Amino acid sequence: MGSVERVSEIVGERPFMSVERAHVITRLIHALGARDVLELGFYEGVSTCYIAAALDADGSDGHLTSIDLASRLRDGRASVEDLLGKLGLLDRVTIFYEYSSYNWRLGRLLAREPRPEFDLVYIDGAHTWDTDGFAFLLVEQLLAPGGVIVFSDLQWSFAKSRWASGWSELMPAEQREPAQVRLVCDVLVAPHPRIARCWDDGQWAYARKIGTPDRALDRRDAAREALRGDAEELRRRAVAELAAGRWSYGSGATKLYPVPPSAEGARPGAARWDARYVGEAPPWDIGAPQPALVELAELGQLAGKLIDVGCGSGEHTILAAQHGADAIGVDISPVAVAIARTKAAERSVSSRFVVNSALSLDELGETFNVAIDSGFFPSLDENEHERYLAGLARVVDPGGVLYLTCLSDKEPGDWGPRRLSREQIEAAFANGWSVEDIVPCKRRTNHPEAPTGEAEAWLATIRRAQAVAPRGRKRASARTSRSR
Ligand SMILES: C[S@@+](CC[C@H](N)C(=O)[O-])C[C@H]1O[C@@H](n2cnc3c(N)ncnc32)[C@H](O)[C@@H]1O
Repeated sequence: MGSVERVSEIVGERPFMSVERAHVITRLIHALGARDVLELGFYEGVSTCYIAAALDADGSDGHLTSIDLASRLRDGRASVEDLLGKLGLLDRVTIFYEYSSYNWRLGRLLAREPRPEFDLVYIDGAHTWDTDGFAFLLVEQLLAPGGVIVFSDLQWSFAKSRWASGWSELMPAEQREPAQVRLVCDVLVAPHPRIARCWDDGQWAYARKIGTPDRALDRRDAAREALRGDAEELRRRAVAELAAGRWSYGSGATKLYPVPPSAEGARPGAARWDARYVGEAPPWDIGAPQPALVELAELGQLAGKLIDVGCGSGEHTILAAQHGADAIGVDISPVAVAIARTKAAERSVSSRFVVNSALSLDELGETFNVAIDSGFFPSLDENEHERYLAGLARVVDPGGVLYLTCLSDKEPGDWGPRRLSREQIEAAFANGWSVEDIVPCKRRTNHPEAPTGEAEAWLATIRRAQAVAPRGRKRASARTSRSR
């Protein structure tokens, strides 16, 4: 069975790419010997399957990168993934779920080192002058010499679109009537100095780039690998942000818009932290636990009932749970907590995560024998320290231990989080705690101003004071011991 027939059996009656068009793109892929293909706009994933199947030919190492909006992930899963899964083609495709437009990702691809390169680009997205005109200018730079761009829906216009009926009538006629993909081809593509030829078959337009292919496969493979990591992270975040209700769909549109936190349940300051977790990971969120905490876990120190305060996307809570702790992560940001829950589920780890302010830890109604504070304490204002430490003292059992890591004053510069000196840590924990140890260590970071990817830090071991016996009893026992 040919690749087109194999796919059409699975995708069935779904529209968006006819079998006839599937044969056209398949022939093109084979004629070009295309190895790396880029698709803009996968919608339900029908065209994605046809392209991936064509790239899956015997012995081929073809790969498709496909970009659409995060709204395709409505229930945490997209139709494209189900279809590819049924065809056993998930590994052939790297999928990016974007918030606003594929053009945002294209900008990121252009900046990626090594920069990805494609032999064929299939554009079946917005079909508008402003989105696809810009998309062309971007993808042309990602296109290999001799590569081809395909523009679908050459005849599409707002005036003919059923989707736009009811509101497109309000548009200026000069924007409503024309076929905008055709406009892009006529005005931007055909006259472009690096486009050798632009032609069409009535439904699709094609543009071939000047030059002959020179495939630097090592560089391409490295770029593929990097994109896969980026896409996985983006998906995880998109699922979490949607689950946390931080984004919604505009009316009739598929783009996502931030939702202002509702008064109910919203904690002061949460929105600011949420914003750090939306989209690209913040610099401290390195996708792995900090080495100093890994060492503690391996020494069996992260055991028992454990709280990870300001847990972020949950790496340390998960680490502790993986080492047997009954671990709970607490963070003020619903988005961070949703990401943490997604990660724990992906890794089959049974850790708990709750949205709660570290300034009201009492609300948890639990106590712990171990606490982790990884980079959280310095993120507080100085006037919040007292409240945090008082609450922490109430939830950490007497004799329990807090492991605190933070950037140290030995780290030069003033980028990123506040640095603390040894003396500042000792002073903060002078009452009700005993600072047992403060040792230098490194904190890993993705901060652009930390070129080595790590910074000077401290790991402090701070023990909660034993409960003080009630006065009367203490005196009595003191007398008893003296009298012996
Ligand atoms: C620098 S990040 C550290 C995250 C994590 N511990 C790590 O090492 O990757 C500080 C975290 O504290 C959280 N946070 C800030 N204020 C908070 C508060 N009042 N209560 C709980 N979490 C808070 C932020 O949302 C953020 O995830």
